[in-house]
Amino acid sequence: MSLPTVTSLSGVGAEISGVDLRDLSDEAFGEITQAFSEHGVLFFRNQTLSEQDHIEFAQRWGDININRFFAAHPDYAEIALVAKEPDQTDNIGGGWHTDHSYDLEPALGSVLVARELPETGGDTMFASMYAAYDTLPDDLREQVQGLRAVHSGRHIFGAADDTYYSKSDAGRGRIGNATVADQLLDVTHPVVITHPMSGKKALYVNPAFTTHFEGQTREDSQPLLSRLFAHCFSGDFHYRFKWSPGSVAMWDNRSTWHWALNDYQGQRRIMHRITIEGCALN
Ligand SMILES: [Fe+2]
Repeated sequence: MSLPTVTSLSGVGAEISGVDLRDLSDEAFGEITQAFSEHGVLFFRNQTLSEQDHIEFAQRWGDININRFFAAHPDYAEIALVAKEPDQTDNIGGGWHTDHSYDLEPALGSVLVARELPETGGDTMFASMYAAYDTLPDDLREQVQGLRAVHSGRHIFGAADDTYYSKSDAGRGRIGNATVADQLLDVTHPVVITHPMSGKKALYVNPAFTTHFEGQTREDSQPLLSRLFAHCFSGDFHYRFKWSPGSVAMWDNRSTWHWALNDYQGQRRIMHRITIEGCALN
């Protein structure tokens, strides 16, 4: 067993080397936890995790969330499949978002393991919501002070003809349970959260699930939401991760956004995702 080397990346995240995730001492795990809290997304290369190893690593962080909408691994309910076959066009997560913000207690984060990669393409983008907050222009910072936003998963996972996944071929077998999604209630979270691990402030709205501000109509919310998103799209706090066999990424849903690029048509990409339960955000 050895201790991790943490290398900060430009934009957001850190690469962790010198460790085998199957065999982490408490001390090494503590250093990884610290790096996660600080950097928001961690990348590990050349790992050899079996499905059971993947589950055991995730369990060190907390309880596993059994995903309601993603197809599960046939043998391991804890593992959600993020898959795309050569004859499928649309991918899962193909736009900037953070997972589970539509839950009252949003997930802490996810551990994604590469199982089968396209020869070209299929990178994942990450963005730091710590940096998004820290670099907000003063007028925006004033406007979001004390504001809460409403988040919903119904327009993404729901059964209506015009939801995100109804219009996508990912909605045919890879993403399901639309009638459960239709029962999701709107939830609200502060637009600026204090991260439960780091104590740092992070901007907590995202283009997929945030629909409007509490106490405002969707129409009235749009100008400020658009400005916040534009700030996040254009910021100097992005990192593009190129997967290789054995790569593992672990991201924090509270302090990062991610976006799975869909630039590998005609090729297969199979990833295994385990999501860890989080807590209410303040
Ligand atoms: Fe995602």
